[in-house]
Amino acid sequence: MPAESEMRIESIADIPLYNGDVEAAQGVPDVVTRLKDAIAGADGLLLVTPEYNNSMPGVAKNAVDWLSRPAADIPRVFGGKPVAICGASPGGFGTIMSQNAWLPVFRTLRAELWSGGRLLVSRAGTVVGEDGEIRDETTRENIRAFITGFVAHTGLRAAQRATAAR
Ligand SMILES: Cc1cc2nc3c(=O)[nH]c(=O)nc-3n(C[C@H](O)[C@H](O)[C@H](O)COP(=O)(O)O)c2cc1C
Repeated sequence: MPAESEMRIESIADIPLYNGDVEAAQGVPDVVTRLKDAIAGADGLLLVTPEYNNSMPGVAKNAVDWLSRPAADIPRVFGGKPVAICGASPGGFGTIMSQNAWLPVFRTLRAELWSGGRLLVSRAGTVVGEDGEIRDETTRENIRAFITGFVAHTGLRAAQRATAAR
């Protein structure tokens, strides 16, 4: 990460299947509320997506569907939020179909999709080691450039919000 920026990695592992009846009876699960608050408090959202059957994984879409509930809370969580989408796959196309599949989702949520860079990591099995270390120098540089560009953009937007609030 660039200096004076911080990345917080959150998990969707404990998010249940979306069920409107459960929401009506019990409201939004605590695990979802915590993740919503984390996104609302962040300057930007970096979505790192796998690709399943040439689209986004259903479990990831399910998580975002929960995060969009109740709908009245969407502006607080996603409205104008800078969102960057990237991903890695074992094949040669680096999640391009999955990344494209996410676009209408975040447009619907009125997020601000950052398109200042693209990060498609192909052959992830060879460029990333077992320990998660990035072994390939070109891949490392591509990730660095993507993150640096997105962080600069989120900083710009945060400064603009601060000026507007004065
Ligand atoms: C059901 C399923 C479908 C997949 N379909 C694709 C695909 O269409 N394109 C692709 O590049 N990789 C595909 N993969 C490989 C995933 O991209 C790979 O599993 C992922 O990068 C690793 O993330 P995961 O451990 O969260 O599954 C698929 C994997 C699974 C399990």
